[in-house]
Amino acid sequence: MHSHFRPGPLPLAMQLTPEGRLKHLLTTEGLPASLIHEIMDRAEQFVTLPAKQQKKAPLLRGKTVMNLFFENSTRTRVTFETAAQRLGADVANLDIRTSSASKGESLLDTVRNLEAMNADIFVVRHEHAGTAQFIARYSAPHVSVLNAGDGRHAHPTQALLDMFTIRQRKGEFAPLRVAIVGDVMHSRVARSQIHALSILGTGEIRVIAPRTLVPTGLERMGVRVFHELDAGLKDVDVVIMLRLQRERMEGALLPSESEFFKLYGLKPENLERTRPDAIVMHPGPINRGVEIDTEVADGPRSVILTQVTNGIAVRMAVMAMVMGAQAGGVA
Ligand code: CP
Repeated sequence: MHSHFRPGPLPLAMQLTPEGRLKHLLTTEGLPASLIHEIMDRAEQFVTLPAKQQKKAPLLRGKTVMNLFFENSTRTRVTFETAAQRLGADVANLDIRTSSASKGESLLDTVRNLEAMNADIFVVRHEHAGTAQFIARYSAPHVSVLNAGDGRHAHPTQALLDMFTIRQRKGEFAPLRVAIVGDVMHSRVARSQIHALSILGTGEIRVIAPRTLVPTGLERMGVRVFHELDAGLKDVDVVIMLRLQRERMEGALLPSESEFFKLYGLKPENLERTRPDAIVMHPGPINRGVEIDTEVADGPRSVILTQVTNGIAVRMAVMAMVMGAQAGGVA
């Protein structure tokens, strides 16, 4: 059963076709830099093309995208749906609460039945790490699987839209200092971001968090770890804030939310430590007054809602590329 499945090191061959084109997107780990740039270049075309014109080039006409969200979502589910519709695909959203998964049907049987309805792309979010990988391994050869977040493992399209937003605002990655702040321990987004930032040659990647929220081994990934907010923010170009993921916490890792806000919440005075043109990012959902002050979240340095908008273009790019990877596809 999938709940016993653990994502081991993912062979790159599983994500790419023998010709090196994107087949599934399960993790950013190990992706070639050229492929990440290709995704961002394609997203750039979609961002600059008005939505009306995008509909005139329906790259996914005749394809069916199925959203399988076994966990809650606002941004990821809706932007995948919007992206698929703009590309001319048929979209089906499986409501897991009312599906036969709640009658004991196994995940693989659910997938087999959806394949029989001619699914071409599965977009999968699940609380268990490795679920998207599991489905990719056992789905039909023509199907592509896109990981929309699995446990605390990976959230690759989120990381790619974040890289796209950074590139849009800052250009090159090599001169940048990027700080990821907060609950890195439970964050699939942070893991995917660190892999992507590293692949893209970011000058310095920092993590700022209390000791209880830092996973072991980060330094081996080339990350500098800070436990004091102002010290870690000094001269950074990009600040990425993370939500406290209470749903994945076991035991008391924090004294209180107000104490966390005092020590690690991003407030206007903390921003004075960064470079004057630093941008503030957050994958959402944001918790005002816990990890971020309202004045910062809504302030001129915040690109939080730009990230959401960019999510549509990046997800369009990824879906167009995986369908293009099929024989006779639309690349
Ligand atoms: N960033 C993100 O994954 O948000 P949702 O949970 O709303 O999809």
